[in-house]
Amino acid sequence: MSKLVLEQIEKGFDEQLILADLSFGVNDGEFVSLLGPSGSGKSTIFHLIGGLYQPDQGTIYLNGQDIVGKKGSISYMPQTPALLPWRTILDNVMLGAELAHQPDRNQAIHMLRRAGLAEYSNRYPHELSGGMKQRAAFVRSLLSPQPFICLDEPFSALDEFTRLEMQKWLLSIWEEERPSVLFVTHNIEEAIFLSDRIIVLGSKPAQVIKEFDITFNRPRTEDLTLTNEFLAIKKEIFQTLRGVLDD
Ligand SMILES: Nc1ncnc2c1ncn2[C@@H]1O[C@H](COP(=O)(O)OP(=O)(O)OP(=O)(O)O)[C@@H](O)[C@H]1O
Ligand SMILES: [Mg+2]
Repeated sequence: MSKLVLEQIEKGFDEQLILADLSFGVNDGEFVSLLGPSGSGKSTIFHLIGGLYQPDQGTIYLNGQDIVGKKGSISYMPQTPALLPWRTILDNVMLGAELAHQPDRNQAIHMLRRAGLAEYSNRYPHELSGGMKQRAAFVRSLLSPQPFICLDEPFSALDEFTRLEMQKWLLSIWEEERPSVLFVTHNIEEAIFLSDRIIVLGSKPAQVIKEFDITFNRPRTEDLTLTNEFLAIKKEIFQTLRGVLDD
């Protein structure tokens, strides 16, 4: 069971209000994406859920427990990969599992291979490209044992085809274990392809503008992205986002 609820969250920096009266939830086993303008506060929301920041007001519950200011309750992939420079890639991806005393070296090696990083297991982060570091951080978040995963633009640095491979891989893992996922992206198509529900955020301060239920059958294949139904919802979300930017 892994259910997240944010209730009336308020957060400001230096007198500027970033989030106000923000409430939403992610149900057990649900895949939810957040879409919103750059600078609207998406990463700030993740920092709050991850316990790195404290809200000025409001509460965050994971399975009914208040997790405000508590680190380690969720698996979290930050927007910048944040790999430890003194650890090899293999040792980096095992960090979350290690902290929970559940390291599985063989599984880590298997996952690195799936992410196209087999030859880089024993290299150090500075020897990898930006997209490789991003994939390593993604593998680390998948290897963390917490059943709630927050991914902040995990595929933004990848070329179109690698991105699609990573999306399909994420979906196959998600379908097997059904973790709850909160996912941030700027890519509308990616959000529709992956999610059960999409929350569009406005900015200054961030608020929920609209929610879209994405009811396409699973497992999903890339052909879905070419159907009229897919294009129709893409258009609707595009217009909602454009409305937010024009405000
Ligand atoms: N630690 C901080 N101190 C001061 N201001 C901050 C801090 N963190 C974030 N902000 C401000 O909060 C606002 C929201 O930032 P945030 O990174 O959450 O946006 P975002 O929606 O993730 O944007 P992007 O899509 O570009 O990643 C910005 O105006 C940013 O300058
Ligand atoms: Mg961000």
